Amino acid sequence: MSNAPRFDIDLADFWCDPYPTLARLRADAPIAFVPQLGGTVFTRRDDIFVSEKLIDVFSSHQPDGLMNKLMGHNMMRKDGEAHISERNAIFPAVSPRAVKQHWSARFQAAADRIIAELAPAGRGDLCRELALPLSADCLKAVTGLTNMSYQDMDAWSQAMIDGIANYAGNPDVEARCRAATDGIDAAIDDMTPVLTRTPDHSLLGVMLGCGMPMQNIQANIKLAISGGQNEPRDAIAGTVWALLIHPEQLALVRAGKIRWIQVFEEYARWISPIGMSPRRIATPWSIHGIDLEPDDRVFFMFGSANRDEACFRNADAFDATRDQSKSIAFGAGPHYCAGAWISRAMVADIALPSVFSRLRSLRLDSAGDPVRIRGWAFRGLQNLPVTWDES
Ligand code: HEM
Repeated sequence: MSNAPRFDIDLADFWCDPYPTLARLRADAPIAFVPQLGGTVFTRRDDIFVSEKLIDVFSSHQPDGLMNKLMGHNMMRKDGEAHISERNAIFPAVSPRAVKQHWSARFQAAADRIIAELAPAGRGDLCRELALPLSADCLKAVTGLTNMSYQDMDAWSQAMIDGIANYAGNPDVEARCRAATDGIDAAIDDMTPVLTRTPDHSLLGVMLGCGMPMQNIQANIKLAISGGQNEPRDAIAGTVWALLIHPEQLALVRAGKIRWIQVFEEYARWISPIGMSPRRIATPWSIHGIDLEPDDRVFFMFGSANRDEACFRNADAFDATRDQSKSIAFGAGPHYCAGAWISRAMVADIALPSVFSRLRSLRLDSAGDPVRIRGWAFRGLQNLPVTWDES
């Protein structure tokens, strides 16, 4: 057990809004043991940026972790060659070239269809009616599981996220997670003969094509679903909301002074959809006078790193004109998000321009519920009631 200072937090408060607590941690105890989270948190951006690359110390291999137990042993829980070989194998499905040649047109078609169905209503919840189905339809294409419904894609993703955070061992949560993983295995079984006969550029297609063992394929598809649905969904809804409450920045985009990609990157810095990534200490290590011991659990707090006042001036403000190059919203080491190019295309190239050009005079619905934002490991809007002028 490390000798990091102990820092107690209120978990309910932390889930509602982790940022005030994270600011106190950065100032008073930037590496601290938080008993309520059961791990040692790293909260300063530069500590995370340096440490994440030291994979012999900060290992991703967590054999006893809930993710391995419930979802199988995927690439995000491997180090070194075992990780790199699987990462290379999926590259043809997630590379910038794949996005340009295969995914962008399909993402645009999904956005066009969803917005066309939504537009006549003149009002709606953009979380539920736009961000959720759009993210899920794009992920169906990218995973190759076009046989799934968008509702299952979202629900099974959430069931796995809940399952791997189920440290209290709630049997209902575990049962829902197992039902989700069984459903995904069945969807893979259905699509495997199709994509073996007619290979495509999907994750399932390229992993089958390179002869990866089926249990690794299943584990990596589950990883992509647990990590590839919520984040774009939350980023689409969140970025739209950020622009609606900062109309001066929307005006800058419309005037061509800043680009959609800057807005998306700033949102991901400001409210990081993935706020944390865990590691296991593999060998004794000291940092800033704190001794970490083998098997200590460490949490790299990306959400905190992206508000670090040492790296970002006025860090709590949403400002799409700022230099975001120090943001580590997609990670800072070998596990850097494999879906980053896909997400940039989905949110910045397609969702944002489509929403703001087709839903005219888009504005928050003053008669709707207030917008709620929740979570710390995964953070996003729970609702986004809006109205627009019917065309
Ligand atoms: C706004 C959208 C997204 C954000 C902010 C995001 C963020 C992240 C972060 C923070 C990590 C961990 C990085 C680390 O520990 O260094 C990660 C890993 C990963 N993400 Fe994403 N992600 C997004 C979308 C996606 C999508 C759409 C997919 C799949 C299509 C995806 C697939 C993955 C995979 C496979 C990994 C593990 C990579 C590895 O272990 O090498 N992500 N993501």
